[in-house]
Amino acid sequence: MIRGLNKQYFVEQLTKYKSGERIQENGDPDKSGEMNELMAEPSIDDQVINGLAEHYASMERLPLDEGLVGKLDKADREMFQGGRTLFDGTCMACHGAQGIGIPQSPMPHLAGQIALYTEKRLQFYATQSGSGSAAIMTGILKQAALTDQDIKHIAFYLENVVGKR
Ligand code: HEC
Repeated sequence: MIRGLNKQYFVEQLTKYKSGERIQENGDPDKSGEMNELMAEPSIDDQVINGLAEHYASMERLPLDEGLVGKLDKADREMFQGGRTLFDGTCMACHGAQGIGIPQSPMPHLAGQIALYTEKRLQFYATQSGSGSAAIMTGILKQAALTDQDIKHIAFYLENVVGKR
């Protein structure tokens, strides 16, 4: 979900992929690390990264689609509501209502992200002591003591709070 992503955040993440400080995870293990290989290319320098960041930061975010929530079956709606309650209590202050991020801040947009990705990021933060802005999330995960089920519910909520892209 990189449309409208904050420029400073974008630059930091791509630079971390380049240096290997952030390892890209993928549901398919064969594809993990693809971002790292891509960013390690010598042609991807600071200027290119800046240009990419500017391009995406200038794009408008996609509108939220509340209508989709009504299409979930009962069990999924309960999971969605559970995730929403946890998110609103622990995450919304930084990631914005419905996970749309905070413009002009390094707080990333999470809404619409596939659940598996969000789960993996949260599991990663739960087990690491990150540097830079990642340290904020590793601190949150330690404090909030979320169970695996909580993480699943939050990830499900975020995937479904807007339409799948
Ligand atoms: C104090 C502010 C703050 C709070 C509270 C917070 N976050 Fe974050 N979150 C951040 C920042 C800053 C980053 C960027 C971290 C980085 O550079 O890796 C981030 C990154 C993330 C990412 C990774 C996004 C990506 O594209 O890789 C996920 C997922 C996430 N947060 C989920 C959550 C959830 C779920 C909660 C609540 C349990 C939460 N955050 C609470 C500030 C916060």
